[in-house]
Amino acid sequence: MKLGVNIDHAATLRQVRGVDYPDPFEIALLAEKGGADYITAHLREDRRHIQDRDIEALRSGLTTYLNLEMAVTDEMLAVACRLRPRDVCLVPEKRQELTTEGGLNVAAQIERLRDACRRLAESGIRVSLFIDPDPLQIEAAVEIGAPVIEIHTGHYANVPRDKHTEQVAIIQRAATQASKAGLLVNAGHGLTIDNVGAIAAIPEIMELNIGHSIIARALYLGMEPAVREMKTIMQRAAIQL
Ligand code: PXP
Repeated sequence: MKLGVNIDHAATLRQVRGVDYPDPFEIALLAEKGGADYITAHLREDRRHIQDRDIEALRSGLTTYLNLEMAVTDEMLAVACRLRPRDVCLVPEKRQELTTEGGLNVAAQIERLRDACRRLAESGIRVSLFIDPDPLQIEAAVEIGAPVIEIHTGHYANVPRDKHTEQVAIIQRAATQASKAGLLVNAGHGLTIDNVGAIAAIPEIMELNIGHSIIARALYLGMEPAVREMKTIMQRAAIQL
């Protein structure tokens, strides 16, 4: 199982003061040293954390590779087709949200997403759709021909612990449905060292994208150990099944 470390919130820390530190690219290099399999960054339309120059640095300077999260807009499609990251994850974006609150409504925008996936694939980019663990959205992802989905685990992460089993079962069913339909299945959002185990133990899930909690743990441990800690917990959970 791979770990994609999302470094957006290193950029948040920089942007809140309008200074030039910390540098998310340097944080990404430390994440790689700690065992990140790739680096994830979200270039939001409002540029609230990651900036265009960060994406350029990540694209050219990583030892691993970049997974660019972005909204389905002409501006972002042009950025992606120019920079050609190895992966793009298409996400919904709302100006007022604190973070990506739900998955893409693929079923409601089949043509637009099919066109975006085609344009990205023509640039040699592997496209993933960030969706809720909802059977209709998975069917729609299959219909538009996306090779990969990322299941939104935010709801699982937000419910009280006594509801986790129920939510894990929903994510497991979605992962099985998607995998049987030939999609590669990733997951992410809201995962921490305390709740990642049950998701890492789902055999169909190949990659996890984790950001906020790793950056927060890095304040205690440093970036490399925080990434190493997360990866160790994920791998133990994956092996135990
Ligand atoms: N996956 C996707 C598609 C996301 O949009 C985000 C947040 O940017 C994450 C994973 C990581 O979420 P978190 O920061 O809560 O770990």
